[in-house]
Amino acid sequence: MHFAPRSNWMNDPNGLVFHDGLYHLYFQYNPHGVEHANLSWGHATSTDLARWTEHDPAILWDDDAQIFSGSVVVDHGNTSGFGTAERPPLVALYTAAAPGHQAQALAYSTDGGYVWTKYDGNPVLDRGTSDFRDPKVFRYDDGGDGYWVMVAVEAQDRQVLFHRSDDLKTWTFLSSYGPAGPVGGVWECPDMFPLAVDGDDDDVRWVLLISLNPGGIAGGSGTHYVVGDFDGTTFRASVPHPVPTRALLREGSQSRDELERYGWIDFGPDCYAGVTFDGLSRGERTLIAWMDNWKYAGRIPTDDSEEHRSAMTLPRRLSLTRDEAGVERLRQQPAVALEPRGSTDLSGVAGGVALAEGAGAVRISVAATFGDAQSVELRIDSTSDDGVVIRQDRASGRIELVRAGAGMPSGFRGSSSMALERRDEIRWDLWIDDLNERVSSVELFAQNGERVLTALIPVASLRTYTVTAVGGTLQEARADVAEP
Ligand code: FRU
Repeated sequence: MHFAPRSNWMNDPNGLVFHDGLYHLYFQYNPHGVEHANLSWGHATSTDLARWTEHDPAILWDDDAQIFSGSVVVDHGNTSGFGTAERPPLVALYTAAAPGHQAQALAYSTDGGYVWTKYDGNPVLDRGTSDFRDPKVFRYDDGGDGYWVMVAVEAQDRQVLFHRSDDLKTWTFLSSYGPAGPVGGVWECPDMFPLAVDGDDDDVRWVLLISLNPGGIAGGSGTHYVVGDFDGTTFRASVPHPVPTRALLREGSQSRDELERYGWIDFGPDCYAGVTFDGLSRGERTLIAWMDNWKYAGRIPTDDSEEHRSAMTLPRRLSLTRDEAGVERLRQQPAVALEPRGSTDLSGVAGGVALAEGAGAVRISVAATFGDAQSVELRIDSTSDDGVVIRQDRASGRIELVRAGAGMPSGFRGSSSMALERRDEIRWDLWIDDLNERVSSVELFAQNGERVLTALIPVASLRTYTVTAVGGTLQEARADVAEP
């Protein structure tokens, strides 16, 4: 279910694009080992976002630069001149990263995204700075011919810079956003796109995603979002985030209470650098993120047989809803389907109920209201570890995930949590999968994807799943199990 390369190191998703019936996923990739080095773009394709076919690396590092994160667009009008109007080129904008210098460079493909040529006029956008990176390009429709817009970060300055272009090769500065809001680390991998609020096409807002490392809500790397307007030049937040003091920018530490005021893609430790596909309609906006954390990514155990490190999150369909207080929130739903296997009635049940056992991919959905129970818990136990507990507590209105750390690096063990909108209701969709012989993953979509928590867990085989109502019984309670 989750994409991972056959071997070697992977980090951020890059160049997500839907073209000619295929989803292309490029990714930060070391062709030579399981460490973060020799950064190139790996490549995989899928017809359904569930099964992926890995191809030869697309863009390789060279003596001048590593190929850092970036994006791909289909140049339908052949504005770049690298293809023809009938056969539009795919154009990648990526960061050419050399020691002390990062600039935006271009590569193009005329065979549908497999073979790439680096442009001989590179770099196409150079500010002469050391941490200018992660260009995400999209076509902006201004009601006329439209133009290309690039969002990229000055990572250390905690700024998103907006540039525009007519041909993807010459870029002019438009505006900047930040520093604002969460600033406890560098800003990386921005994305920006329009979404209709509650599906209403007359009420379209722009969402700006900014990854932050460290300083995320669960510690280490995390991704926050800002909802606002984009007029073709400038992004303005609906609810402006506070501008940090110089001292805060220098010291970088923000309290959990402050961080909770902002929007986060995910409240777990392992969802970073998420960006969305180009080439899909507004209603199909889909995100994939790297399911890991820079805090320990390089030390997560690899598989004995096939040495690879890390996986992507499930692809997630994004939508925007407005809550009763008028706040717009991102909602995420997995964009893959599973076969239902069984359903258990949990109404009035006291004590623990075993739902399923075994390894492999599984989705467990729990829907209930709190009767007189105080909390509900799901335990994932295995013979090799002291387990994982996911608990929703009625009084605090929070869900917490506690993971043990057997065989995992320091900084891994611990808990992460998120506050919920509706305290009486339990709505969990838990997607669990094995990434290798030692590492599994949990993605918890709570309350129909209004809150999401993603965490790697140190168990892979011989799992049991037990749900327990604590301190009483649940009402209108069901648990459903589904598999690929
Ligand atoms: C984010 C990041 C990007 C950079 C890439 C390098 O995880 O640090 O800012 O382009 O990884 O691999």
